[in-house]
Amino acid sequence: MERTLEPEWLDELPPDDPKAVRSRRDLKRLNWWMRHDSLMADALLRYSKGKSLQRVVDLGAGDGTFALGLTRKLVQQHPKVQVTLVDRQPCMGAETRDGFQALGCTVETVAADIFDWLTHAVVPPGTIFIANLFLHHFHEAELCEVFYLASKQVDLFAACEPRRAELSLRMAKLVGLIGCNSVTRHDAVVSVRAGFTKRELSDMWPTEGAWLLQEQRAGLFSHLFVAHRK
Ligand SMILES: C[S@@+](CC[C@H](N)C(=O)[O-])C[C@H]1O[C@@H](n2cnc3c(N)ncnc32)[C@H](O)[C@@H]1O
Repeated sequence: MERTLEPEWLDELPPDDPKAVRSRRDLKRLNWWMRHDSLMADALLRYSKGKSLQRVVDLGAGDGTFALGLTRKLVQQHPKVQVTLVDRQPCMGAETRDGFQALGCTVETVAADIFDWLTHAVVPPGTIFIANLFLHHFHEAELCEVFYLASKQVDLFAACEPRRAELSLRMAKLVGLIGCNSVTRHDAVVSVRAGFTKRELSDMWPTEGAWLLQEQRAGLFSHLFVAHRK
């Protein structure tokens, strides 16, 4: 399947539009079905073993519920981890903020376009970048820029994205069966067609520097990419 990019409806709706609110709720459910928080946490814990993980920056974090689920899995090994949620339209609810507080973690939201933020951010040591269902929004040239800027700032970058494969596409066409609304039904199919396969993301990661790159199918429908400085 060739990679194609089409606008996603959720990106174009105001965050408080009822259809957007409902679609973000659907995303929570889909993340749960696809086990993205576990897939990402396993990768992060493996690569951060014996190191101090101070801050997780979630690029394209949406309402922060994915980051909260992930943080729940990280705190046992990294109890003081701080979380930064970067999104063009951040929309974290009180419940999610309380969830971070209950874990003893600080959380901040940053309303910014990812390219502006990555260009200007000052990132302290011990920071890692993650992205969930986010990288597939971008063309190859944009991804190369995201990766170039990220590789200058962190030693660990992990992303969980849709896998561009027939099985994922078939599943995406069925999300209505678990109650997803029209926005989610549209975006799920568009996301798979814009997703990744093989070593497409590794091929866009900068070649300079000593990086270990891991890229593979994860779960049934997903694609995991981890870049780790040696
Ligand atoms: C499919 S949602 C995923 C949200 C979250 N990561 C999750 O798993 O629930 C994609 C998010 O990317 C954000 N986004 C899209 N383009 C962006 C950009 N150029 N800069 C920052 N955020 C962006 C959208 O606002 C949206 O919240």
